[in-house]
Amino acid sequence: MLNDKKVRIAVLVSGGGTNLQALIDSQKSGVITDGEIVLVLSNKADAYSLTRAENAGIKAVAVTKAEFGTDFEKKIVETLDENNIELIVLAGFMCILSKDFTDKYKNRIINVHPSLIPSFCGEGFYGLRVHRAALEKGVKVSGATVHFVNEIPDGGEIIMQKAVEVCEGDTPETLSARILENAEWKILPASTQLVCKKILNGEI
Ligand code: GAR
Repeated sequence: MLNDKKVRIAVLVSGGGTNLQALIDSQKSGVITDGEIVLVLSNKADAYSLTRAENAGIKAVAVTKAEFGTDFEKKIVETLDENNIELIVLAGFMCILSKDFTDKYKNRIINVHPSLIPSFCGEGFYGLRVHRAALEKGVKVSGATVHFVNEIPDGGEIIMQKAVEVCEGDTPETLSARILENAEWKILPASTQLVCKKILNGEI
């Protein structure tokens, strides 16, 4: 009999969710075969990501700091546990998780970051700020990184990276768009599949 076990994935988001969409599309097109997105959790109640999840028939929940205050992370853990989540994918999730949280899910959280780590990463480097810093430095190449998440912001083991050219006249917005399309939307689904396979094989 074929083993049809799939890793139960939660995608954590804060915003528009183009990476989430890439994951959903990759599930449909067969790039991700060893995992299934069963939950999308946003820390922003009005994130468009939640609509993307609903449109794809995926359970979508908002867990906000405004509502849960100091119990914010506890509520996230409860929600993950209730849904038997085995892998957490951070796709534009703009909150830093505590050491307790990252220890609990060792090798079970991955994140996409819009630069070639170790450049332009760590606390304070998120979203367009990353691209602004890269342009200020004058780098000719940037890109994206998918990595495991530990207690050090953007400090966990690197899974995949893809370089993208910086063009004359780039703004943070144009650079971001090129990196999303040419790197993030490719390496996040590919890394998700790779990590799911390793989990199913008992390698991690
Ligand atoms: C992406 O570029 C992602 O790499 C970045 O936020 C954007 C979210 O876009 N994440 C970080 O900066 C985390 N440090 P999306 O909502 O369209 O996927």
